[in-house]
Amino acid sequence: MIERDNQITSTKAANQDDKLDLTLRPKTLEEYVGQGDTKMNLKVAMQAAKKRDEPVEHILLYGPPGLGKTTLANIVAREMGVNIKTTSGPAIEKQGDLASILTNLQENDILFIDEIHRLKTNIEEILYSAMEDYALDIIIGKGPAARSMRLDLPKFTLIGATTKVGSLSAPLRDRFGHIYKLDFYQDDEIQAIVKRSAGLLDVQIDDAGTAEIAKSARKTPRIANRLLKRIRDFATVEDYKKIDLKFTQKCLKTMGVDILGLDKTDRQILLAIIDKFNGGPVGVNAIAAATAEEIETIEDLYEPYLLQIGFLDRTKRGRVVTENAYVHLNLDYSENQNRMF
Ligand SMILES: Nc1ncnc2c1ncn2[C@@H]1O[C@H](COP(=O)(O)OP(=O)(O)OP(=O)(O)O)[C@@H](O)[C@H]1O
Ligand SMILES: [Mg+2]
Repeated sequence: MIERDNQITSTKAANQDDKLDLTLRPKTLEEYVGQGDTKMNLKVAMQAAKKRDEPVEHILLYGPPGLGKTTLANIVAREMGVNIKTTSGPAIEKQGDLASILTNLQENDILFIDEIHRLKTNIEEILYSAMEDYALDIIIGKGPAARSMRLDLPKFTLIGATTKVGSLSAPLRDRFGHIYKLDFYQDDEIQAIVKRSAGLLDVQIDDAGTAEIAKSARKTPRIANRLLKRIRDFATVEDYKKIDLKFTQKCLKTMGVDILGLDKTDRQILLAIIDKFNGGPVGVNAIAAATAEEIETIEDLYEPYLLQIGFLDRTKRGRVVTENAYVHLNLDYSENQNRMF
């Protein structure tokens, strides 16, 4: 999970922020804004499971960071009235680690594995029988004397979350009964989230200020909340009572966030492709080298939104900056295209 925030520097500030994030996290499906289809499907799945007194079938949630995967997993646990154990792909190093997590689950519990695409193959294999038969196949002994033993596990629900569904192996993906893609949020949904968060944080903000934050939030709840929290800081320091459009715009400018939510790194990425590669096509490795960002950061964090707003195109030969992006950056598209010849 990659965090995008240059403002947080000290651990203390980060802890304070984490606490606020927990306050802002919706606890029920009712409070969870947007993602209508996923919510409806989950509601039915949970009702059916409750009626049959069974765990919900395994659920895979995928989509860009900050759209609410972890939040949704916790809501399912709460609504089902069961425990949730949380771990992540990279945190499980040995088969034994996973075996011990699985054998410690109680009937109907939820096991949440974040970044599930990063599970090692030999660990992933243990999940197959656990998910399908609620059983753990373990090998006892070594060499010719080795034999396999099967341990029964409690019935449980695995919820996997990933930003990269394409990296998941087919056998693992096929064992999920529910697979949901979380989409970027609509403008009015983000506004509703900002309003809700402002209420929880006791922040006075008018509709125009709310709308302005929503526009700059990259269609992402986590970023909407983060912008609100930072603007709240400015308001506290400056003793500004009710956040309005003017104040919001001033703060966003200070933070280097433009009206479409692009920050310095987004602009750097676009400008690097334009200046160094004539607007593309160019591979992500070259973009990473030109901007000194990690490939994964570009792929997971920046690119999905730039693709979503139509500033980047992904072609077989690489990424291409679109005319819309040139216009937004005040650059002449035709002039740049001519440079190629
Ligand atoms: N549908 C929603 N309604 C209201 N708030 C939301 C919603 N989804 C997410 N949030 C807020 O956004 C924050 C980020 O969500 P969450 O941590 O669930 O994202 P994620 O998809 O798990 O991200 P990552 O891929 O980085 O783990 C939450 O703390 C919550 O406050
Ligand atoms: Mg998460």
